[in-house]
Amino acid sequence: MMKKYLIAFMLIVIYGTAAKSQNANPYFPEKDLITTGIYYYPEHWKESQWERDIKKISDMGYEFVHLAEFAWFKMEPEEGRFDFTWLDKVVGLCVKYKLKVVMCTPSATTPAWMRANYPETFIMDGHYIRAEHGTRGLASIVNPKYRLFVEKIVTEMGRRYGQHKNVTGWQLDNEPDAKPDYSVSSQKAFRQWLKSRYKTIDALNDAWGTAFWSQWYNNFDQVMIHNTNLVGWWGNNPHALLDFKRYCADAQAGFLDFQAGTLRGLISKQQYITTNYTAVSPGSDPGRTKKLDFAAYTAYPNGGSDNIGELGFRMGDSRVILFASEYFKHVGGVSGVMEIQPGPVNWGSYNPLLLPGTVRMWLYHTFAAGGKLACSYRFRQILYSAEQYHSGVIQTDGVTPSPGGEEYIQFMKEIKELRKLYRPGAKVPEKLMERSTAILWNLENYWTIDRQKQTNQWDTWNYPVKFLEMAKSLGAPVDVVPETTDLSKYKVVIVPAYEMADSALIKKWNDYVTRGGHLIITCRTATKNRMGHFWEGKPAAPISGLIGVQITATDMLSAYGKGDIQMGSEHYKWNKWGDLLQPDQNTEVLARYENQFYKGKAAVVKHKIGKGSVTYIGVATDDSKLEKDLLRNTYTGAGATTENYPPGVYVYWRDGFYMAVNYSSTDYNINIPANSKIIVGEKTLKPAGVLVWSE
Ligand code: GAL
Repeated sequence: MMKKYLIAFMLIVIYGTAAKSQNANPYFPEKDLITTGIYYYPEHWKESQWERDIKKISDMGYEFVHLAEFAWFKMEPEEGRFDFTWLDKVVGLCVKYKLKVVMCTPSATTPAWMRANYPETFIMDGHYIRAEHGTRGLASIVNPKYRLFVEKIVTEMGRRYGQHKNVTGWQLDNEPDAKPDYSVSSQKAFRQWLKSRYKTIDALNDAWGTAFWSQWYNNFDQVMIHNTNLVGWWGNNPHALLDFKRYCADAQAGFLDFQAGTLRGLISKQQYITTNYTAVSPGSDPGRTKKLDFAAYTAYPNGGSDNIGELGFRMGDSRVILFASEYFKHVGGVSGVMEIQPGPVNWGSYNPLLLPGTVRMWLYHTFAAGGKLACSYRFRQILYSAEQYHSGVIQTDGVTPSPGGEEYIQFMKEIKELRKLYRPGAKVPEKLMERSTAILWNLENYWTIDRQKQTNQWDTWNYPVKFLEMAKSLGAPVDVVPETTDLSKYKVVIVPAYEMADSALIKKWNDYVTRGGHLIITCRTATKNRMGHFWEGKPAAPISGLIGVQITATDMLSAYGKGDIQMGSEHYKWNKWGDLLQPDQNTEVLARYENQFYKGKAAVVKHKIGKGSVTYIGVATDDSKLEKDLLRNTYTGAGATTENYPPGVYVYWRDGFYMAVNYSSTDYNINIPANSKIIVGEKTLKPAGVLVWSE
């Protein structure tokens, strides 16, 4: 008997510890929920104003200050001469006003002496023109000389601030975007990358299909980066370009890891290392870094576009935080927003005032979606230079909060109240667990499809994001995950236009379904191998057993085309993409084409394998009605309930709190149980409104 209790006790301890270590992050105590900060550039302001500014940051409720991001010129005014006295003063003020610091490495903006004395440290564009000093992000990250300079400044900074109690973390570089670089250093690095990937030139010739148009190489020295600027569209080899993308992303990740590696030995264990990827980051692949503790992102939802309804242009694109907050979590398990737009920017197609409440809503959105930090770019609106018109949280007089600043203050006050209500150990509600969903994402699929879209109606980035929107509107908690993720914890897994696959991945999908998972696979999946070649067989041949059909052909209509599909008694429109499907005997046809010369052919099928099911959606529609109905049916079929939130209304559960935000232009009444407790906001969500409640 005693033994039994002991075992049970030990299981509880082991299980409890495992569950805890899964959630707990060493840098962000759970009870703090989220921490807030602000970018401050002391080098832009008179020293006599620093104390006033730092005090104001503290008074507004911020918890950390983001420093030194673009200040290389001030930290190393001449080659090899370092000066940190000014930064020491600012850090000292942060200590005085009880603010933490996120220190940044300044590699994105090199000092003038570097370009003047070492031009080779700069990138070349596609016409082999060397970039000039004067802006940022133009250094050649693979150039050994530049790397040496980066290593020196990072080392100096690490030595100076690596053990400082107030420094909580480091941001490397700025918005690393894996820029194409055609300089001599980059050509060399690319050839090196190819050699280690292919070993022999024959293997490269095979992979790139260079027999086509006499592209054949006799040795690696003949290989130049395929340069879309000079070769012309038709000359471009998609496989060579795919490898160039891979190389750029690897070079970018390698550069970040190089900085992280330099810092790591110098800093305390309490300090994290991250970077600030742009929310839509089509070149950089965060998953390729090995040494970051987590990946933060920058979010500028409002760049002057229409968005949802007549007020949408004031609230911005609802998909920015929606996607980024899930996507970047795959590095280190947490994420946060390093820059959130504080008001109108200077670079939108036009820059309207934001609808009152918008900045606060964005902050809540990032918090609701699990964000651990929310920082904003920038404190004071600058009086000169390229970003003059970009708002800050403080206006041009240096003391008055902007509307965005006021909303930040409100958010920080509210977070302090929420912290008081926080109870550790809250469990994700059962009804949400039943809808748990993963969307598979691999940037390489974006690269290959976007190069060969086949129809100008294909929106490559947003196609998978559309499924995220649909799943959210049905009330599912959704993770955006890489293919290496363990899928067993998800009820539903969506594989949207996952163009390149191999047998190991397909087996993984098969196993997931056999064990009871519900897989949704869409058109454009597994039509190519990892080098982007078609299979010697029918389209998507390696998954035909899994999806239970042969794809016999693919059609697409013009933007005004009126494709008709029937599912049950409902008709749906389509025009982007339509696979014609030949079902196997045991495959159920869910929807058929209702016009065109192939009327009656299957468009969507369901195939049961083992304990689970695969739904293959061979068609891509504009309005997503068909896809959404199919997704709903999948949840229902899996025994889950669903919601029906309108576009732009997103509901999350986090740490015991339910939260909703509204990017739409109309009021929305959230249906919450009668005994719920409203903590922030009102049940009627106004445009840019926020609601926090507990059930
Ligand atoms: C971001 C960048 C910031 C600032 C901002 C302006 O992309 O990281 O440094 O320039 O844009 O909106």
